[in-house]
Amino acid sequence: HTASLTLDPAFVVGPVRARTFGSFVEHLGRCVYTGIHDPGHATADADGFRGDVLELTKELGVSTVRYPGGNFVSGYRWEDGVGPVEQRPTRLDLAWHSSDPNTVGVDEFMRWAAKAEVEPMMAVNLGTRGVQEALDLLEYCNVPSGSYFSDLRRANGVEEPYRIKMWCLGNEMDGPWQIGHKTAEEYARLAAETARAMRMMDPNLELVVCGSSSSDMPTFGEWERVVLTEAYEFVDHVSAHAYYWEENGDLASFLASAVDMDHFVESVAATADAVRAAGKHTKRINISFDEWNVWYQKRAESRPPTGDDWPVAPVLLEDRYNVADAVVVGSLLISLLRHTDRVHAASLAQLVNVIAPIMTEPGGRSWRQTIFHPFALTSRFAAGEVLRIAIDSPREDTARFGEVPVLDAVATHDAETGDVTIFAVNRSVTSSVRLDADLRGFPGLRLVEAQTLSNPDHTWAATADDADSVVPVANDSAAVADGRVSAELPPVSWSVLRLA
Ligand code: AHR
Repeated sequence: HTASLTLDPAFVVGPVRARTFGSFVEHLGRCVYTGIHDPGHATADADGFRGDVLELTKELGVSTVRYPGGNFVSGYRWEDGVGPVEQRPTRLDLAWHSSDPNTVGVDEFMRWAAKAEVEPMMAVNLGTRGVQEALDLLEYCNVPSGSYFSDLRRANGVEEPYRIKMWCLGNEMDGPWQIGHKTAEEYARLAAETARAMRMMDPNLELVVCGSSSSDMPTFGEWERVVLTEAYEFVDHVSAHAYYWEENGDLASFLASAVDMDHFVESVAATADAVRAAGKHTKRINISFDEWNVWYQKRAESRPPTGDDWPVAPVLLEDRYNVADAVVVGSLLISLLRHTDRVHAASLAQLVNVIAPIMTEPGGRSWRQTIFHPFALTSRFAAGEVLRIAIDSPREDTARFGEVPVLDAVATHDAETGDVTIFAVNRSVTSSVRLDADLRGFPGLRLVEAQTLSNPDHTWAATADDADSVVPVANDSAAVADGRVSAELPPVSWSVLRLA
């Protein structure tokens, strides 16, 4: 079993974008409260932010963080979360059947983002609210002074405007579960008018219009066509959301989830380009893949409370990730990088506790889930430009996608340092595969290191007691000889090969 690839510096897809390595903090479960914010914690700073989580966020290599939702944002009144904390109201969060004390709001999040050294990506509520409230929040955040909301921010102790650049025009408005869910036509008008007005206040914004919540949505494709036809000139990106999970023990299809992500990105790009042609537009709309991950949506922990139970920060969506999940996350990053010409931003959903690479105990320990590793290493070592590579791989059958190549890979080349990095997954459930790459055009490259994440038991998952016994380790089979790099990749594995 050998999979051959050819790397050539002349064939470039586009730049590696820092924004591909974004994440997401929603007021959901324990993501904010006891996740990033836990004033009683031993590592908490004066603002109540956990120092251990800040450290792990930096180690993860996160670039942007989307906030405050998610489904939450479609019922959110941002004004509840500013001003003296003791005067802030507790509100019902209908999306997750929880209570939010509003201890953390826009100003706290922005303080946290500065400490985490991430770019904020703010979402406005287009579920229960509209143009005016979006403008009010924008004024609070981005206008220097001399108006009601900008002066309110200053009165709340923040003299300089945040000048937040990336804004999401609502969240998943195509989904019937969304508060204030709309038809494509209804949303298209609201998004276009909100975007137009926001630009009147601040022309420097990058606006993300809602695309589809998954490629399985009945409106997928048509939604993007209708929304972009109306909003094209006022927006920069269209969003895409996708979650994958192993269903009915079908590991082979699950490992091939990136086939769906490829199809998703290519379909949305084609639709955006069709609207561009029909509307005689000159600019291109790109994709913000601002929610993606493995998420076992049908498990009990994804079900919100019911009845009169409206808890603060309940345990919700606290998926425990295994090695196979990490391989899928690594392969989805390969798909995002491969499409760097059209995917200009992406957010791993989410950051802490809620379908997250980082886990915490309230007031206690924090640890890395398996999915932390491929994300952190890809963010750290993908550099320069993404190369267009040709792969000739053995194929295996999957129930969901038919025959798929078992090896998937992407390579980056940093022209300044000369470094070449290959990220690869073996999606076979049973067989190892030999990666054999022709390094033509890269004379003299040597192997710096090769790391592989795999385990004989792919269901192994990290816990607070044992987070580190399965991590990426050196792959001693990797070698460079005669202008080729080769490595043996075990079944269900993710690897990074660094050459310089
Ligand atoms: O990330 C969890 C949820 O998934 C988000 O709130 C929503 O946007 C999506 O359906």
